Amino acid sequence: MTNIDQSWEELQARCRDCRACPLGESRTNNVFGMGDRHSPLMFVGEAPGEQEDATGIPFVGAAGKLLDHYLFAVDLPRDRVYIANILKCRPPRNRDPEESEQEACIGYLREQFRLIQPKVLVCLGRIAAMKLIKPDFRITREHGKWFYKGGVWMTAVYHPSALLRDNTKREDTLRDMWAIRQKLEELGVAPEVEETNE
Ligand code: URA
Repeated sequence: MTNIDQSWEELQARCRDCRACPLGESRTNNVFGMGDRHSPLMFVGEAPGEQEDATGIPFVGAAGKLLDHYLFAVDLPRDRVYIANILKCRPPRNRDPEESEQEACIGYLREQFRLIQPKVLVCLGRIAAMKLIKPDFRITREHGKWFYKGGVWMTAVYHPSALLRDNTKREDTLRDMWAIRQKLEELGVAPEVEETNE
């Protein structure tokens, strides 16, 4: 095992046993993150929902299916990106993560970020954008804008759950997703699109 594989193993094991906040007692599974650990592109959502808590996999419920649809639309399949959340455990009834929970959990995300070293980071929704881009982030006004921080390009798109509630945001989101693909191309790190004969 390489040192980097070992770091991933250790981080995941620590996270699996975590009791740093009360959500550690109520979770079914913790949802560490999933995808290509060498991807130039990392997505960060808010916190696991019911399906994610049941399976341990991020974005597998209705919002996740919609996210997959957008990823597919811009030739960024799920297995070519890395997806994680601010919180690794589900808050009761999917309420917003509390500040103390975010603080208790953010170290895992920082470590994931350090190991992956993505070139582009995309916040899925307001909560992740406020934590990772700036505390006063306004998703309606600032989705799709680019912020260059610490050598990484960051942006935010509407959370897929918001798109399930409000169809009118979908066009903007498709535009934002294309801009993400474009940014990867500009940086020379876009995943190759596989040709099919269909
Ligand atoms: N919503 C999120 O923010 N993350 C998930 O993993 C699922 C739903």
